[in-house]
Amino acid sequence: MTNPPLVETRELSVHFGGLKAVNHVNFSVCDGELRCLIGPNGAGKTTFFRLLTGVHAPTSGTVKINGRSIAGLQTHQIAKLGVGIKTQIPSLFDNLSVHENIWLSARRNHGRAAANQIADRVITEEVGLGEYANTEASKLSHGQRQWVELGVVLAQRPKLILLDEPAAGMTGSDMEKTAELIKRINRSSAMIVVEHDMEFIKRIAKTVTVFNRGEVLVESDVDTVLADERVREVYLGKRMGQRHDIGA
Ligand SMILES: Nc1ncnc2c1ncn2[C@@H]1O[C@H](COP(=O)(O)OP(=O)(O)OP(=O)(O)O)[C@@H](O)[C@H]1O
Ligand SMILES: [Mg+2]
Repeated sequence: MTNPPLVETRELSVHFGGLKAVNHVNFSVCDGELRCLIGPNGAGKTTFFRLLTGVHAPTSGTVKINGRSIAGLQTHQIAKLGVGIKTQIPSLFDNLSVHENIWLSARRNHGRAAANQIADRVITEEVGLGEYANTEASKLSHGQRQWVELGVVLAQRPKLILLDEPAAGMTGSDMEKTAELIKRINRSSAMIVVEHDMEFIKRIAKTVTVFNRGEVLVESDVDTVLADERVREVYLGKRMGQRHDIGA
């Protein structure tokens, strides 16, 4: 028998009053995949992540991780199933060093010695911040802080990593480094990456799922999605001339 998808949703919905923030979403990601999730502001991307991590309970529908329903599980129990997330909200302890921030994350699931090993490996080999290991988080640049946030997620050794706008506010070489980091991390973990920046999406994407008004509008390979008339409409209608512009 083949393995179940790493994550699978069936007719997944969450409604806030009359607002259908996520509506009948059927979605799955397999081991090793790197899936990009795009869509205009308010499309339901972050809310979808909150359903996958148990922050919101669905109004209807199901989420399965490795074939197991997560209904009724707490967020920390879902994290233990191997789901890690970097949210849009900064989570670092500003007055702690890079090493301390990442060590604390590793320590949640590991003993002291193992947490040390994991932190060292994540910092030097996985996010490439060896020379900043003892630097206080508050002294880092925007890009470096984002990479430490990635390290905090990696230190929990998740099987599935959800990243909500990992390149937000980045340009040039920082954006390129983040794309390279994500591709490297994807060698050992499946990922779902939400991003607005189309240059970034083009660098990392294979399959792209487009959300609009809580529903899946299109799902296909990156070139097909970016050429799709419906996708261009939902972006161009709202984003003409902005940095996130899908491009003419
Ligand atoms: N807890 C909540 N209560 C009520 N409405 C909510 C709640 N969370 C999100 N919403 C609404 O649900 C819709 C989807 O929001 P969500 O944050 O998921 O969008 P998004 O695709 O992540 O957008 P962005 O690209 O701007 O981050 C929006 O209309 C938002 O205002
Ligand atoms: Mg969002």
